[in-house]
Amino acid sequence: MEKTLSIIKPDGVKKNIIGEVVSRFEKQGLKVLAMRMISLTKKGACGFYAVHSERPFFNDLTDFMSSGPVVVMVLGGGDAVKKVRAIMGATNPAEAEPGTIRKDFADSIDNNIVHGSDAPETAASEIHYFFNCLDICEG
Ligand code: CMP
Repeated sequence: MEKTLSIIKPDGVKKNIIGEVVSRFEKQGLKVLAMRMISLTKKGACGFYAVHSERPFFNDLTDFMSSGPVVVMVLGGGDAVKKVRAIMGATNPAEAEPGTIRKDFADSIDNNIVHGSDAPETAASEIHYFFNCLDICEG
């Protein structure tokens, strides 16, 4: 079973759609293996998105990610990384397919409701940013 990390961002939590987002993942056969609500500090958000530290949107992104609680979760299933990305839709909601989370709920590329790892290798490091192996219920 492949694993991936997803985050319901502060806009998703504020819009009260945690259940809706999780349900969309579950309906496509993904299993929640670990889940936690946390408030990221600015430093915690910078660490998570360190790969984007040279991008012009880095400061706004990390301000936004530390602006309110987020829900971090590990999802598992066949082709989990690709599946989660398909369910989320394109990073920019204006380009997302109808029926995807971002098309249906996101206001902009900055406030785009969810994050999902972009490859299995990234998923492994992103999962371990938030969870240790004892937190992940694979049974
Ligand atoms: P996410 O999948 O969480 O990964 C990085 C985030 O940066 C992305 O979603 C967007 O919310 C945000 N972002 C803002 N501008 C851009 C951009 N031009 N390209 C990619 N991501 C961007």
